[in-house]
Amino acid sequence: GNFMARAIRKAVFPVAGLGTRFLPATKAVSKEMLPVLDRPLIDYAVSEARAAGIDTFIFVTGRKSSADTLKAYFEMAPDLEAALRPNHAALVTQLKADEPPKGSVKCVTQDEPMGLGHAVWCAREFIDDEPFAVILPDDLMDCEPGCISQLIDAHQKTQGNVVAIQEVPRENTARYGVLDPGVEKDGLVEVLGLVEKPKPEDAPSNLTVVGRYILLPEVFDHLSRFERGAGGEVQLTDAMAQMIGAAPFHGHRFTGHRYDCGSQQGFVEAQIGFSLKQPELRETIRRFLRASGEEWE
Ligand code: G1P
Repeated sequence: GNFMARAIRKAVFPVAGLGTRFLPATKAVSKEMLPVLDRPLIDYAVSEARAAGIDTFIFVTGRKSSADTLKAYFEMAPDLEAALRPNHAALVTQLKADEPPKGSVKCVTQDEPMGLGHAVWCAREFIDDEPFAVILPDDLMDCEPGCISQLIDAHQKTQGNVVAIQEVPRENTARYGVLDPGVEKDGLVEVLGLVEKPKPEDAPSNLTVVGRYILLPEVFDHLSRFERGAGGEVQLTDAMAQMIGAAPFHGHRFTGHRYDCGSQQGFVEAQIGFSLKQPELRETIRRFLRASGEEWE
């Protein structure tokens, strides 16, 4: 085997969901383009990856319009640049400097909605025989250092699979991939088993997988069998479960806050949480929250 630590250079962003919880907005704009303050969800996810040293960003999209929008976002169109330049030259320069380097963004389409595992499998042509990251932009992570940086640190210690984990109330296990936990050491929980969306009474614990993963390339061997799991979908959780025992597998209790932007509640909380961190917004938003609290009680 190769015992040299392999750097994590690539991240897969599954963004093929229909965003049904955000209809009608998602008729025209895909979910990952919905903004928290001034930036779309996908920007937070890509920025988190870039801060962790990732240099290749692979989007797995559903509808073709979604790939077009992502390209438009990550590379400013010449006509927009021309329109902004006369009065906003400094802003244009800044926006262009913030864009990921040309060629670093790849898109691949998932032709059929066969599940998260299938979406990740669709990215295989861009991944060589190397460990890689998977980032679900719905899970907006406010972490310092970034959540994917935390996982990469853990992976460098274990050389195995690592997923971000958090505890949830028991009654919510059916929304998540759930761990059968083994020994815990230094915030790393050994993974003995993984179950996708178990009922509370069947869940092996209340430790759940958050949308951040460092995976060994062997995961594609398991995904390529297209075995259907929970909800009749090809589940990433099932392919990961099949790797347990063959290589180290740990859950990392991340430091920071997760906003579940797949739900309207989490999305609103993210708007509030991020606005309270902005010096120019903090006071007015706090005043508004206090006043509206009294008004609605
Ligand atoms: C997906 C995964 C699940 C994980 C969750 C984290 O579920 O299948 O294992 O816990 O993301 O957000 P989804 O939210 O797509 O239903």
